[in-house]
Amino acid sequence: MRQPLVAGNWKMHGSRESVVALLGALSTSVKCDAVDVAVCPAFVHLPQALELSASSPVSVGAQDCSAFDEGAYTGEVAAAMLADLGCEWVILGHSERRAYHHESDALVSAKLSAAIAAGLRPIVCVGETRTQRESGEAEAIVAAQLAGALAEHGNLAGLVVAYEPVWAIGTGLTATPEQAQDMHAYIRAELASIPGLDEQATRLLYGGSVKPGNADELFAQVDIDGALVGGAALVAEDFQAIVNAAA
Ligand code: PGA
Repeated sequence: MRQPLVAGNWKMHGSRESVVALLGALSTSVKCDAVDVAVCPAFVHLPQALELSASSPVSVGAQDCSAFDEGAYTGEVAAAMLADLGCEWVILGHSERRAYHHESDALVSAKLSAAIAAGLRPIVCVGETRTQRESGEAEAIVAAQLAGALAEHGNLAGLVVAYEPVWAIGTGLTATPEQAQDMHAYIRAELASIPGLDEQATRLLYGGSVKPGNADELFAQVDIDGALVGGAALVAEDFQAIVNAAA
């Protein structure tokens, strides 16, 4: 049995004030022990988020980490620093990192090693662009991303994979439940050939314009084990409704 996970990716949004408001609301409303719930604010808001969620079931993660352990890497944040702070999760290989920061699968793999060594729970993102889907390459792209990021690790127990079609992120377009399920089933089958993990135990999240209105039908699919939520994670009632749908 895979326990659902709903993770909020706050991206580069928020202020000290909005973090208090959002986590204040969530840490009292999220009561569900049938769903794991996480929020991933910007680095600078992590200490505040950790403090505000301390006595609630909401756990906290970062949106990225460095591939390096420590050293002269100006602007980078090490996985060990995040773990030391109390973070549980880290999102890796988000399509916005791949697009705007030219992150390759090899870099995602190196970051994954750093995250595992630090004891963080990684959420590795994969997904095709609209052009790739339209040209029939979606599965090949996702398979290459999985192999490139995941193949070289000894132990991937607890790994979470998020399928986020790039064309559905922040666009209001969502993959249909059937499209999402087909890709999730494909990903699970691909994971069977990756050493160090049990593909049946690995949670696969869907991401891309998940909202209260579409969460139920997405979560009804057998291979969808939760969601990575962007825009709707910034509105406490919407995020709560998505958590409820996963329960
Ligand atoms: P969205 O973002 O829900 O705003 O589409 C999802 C994500 O990028 O993780």
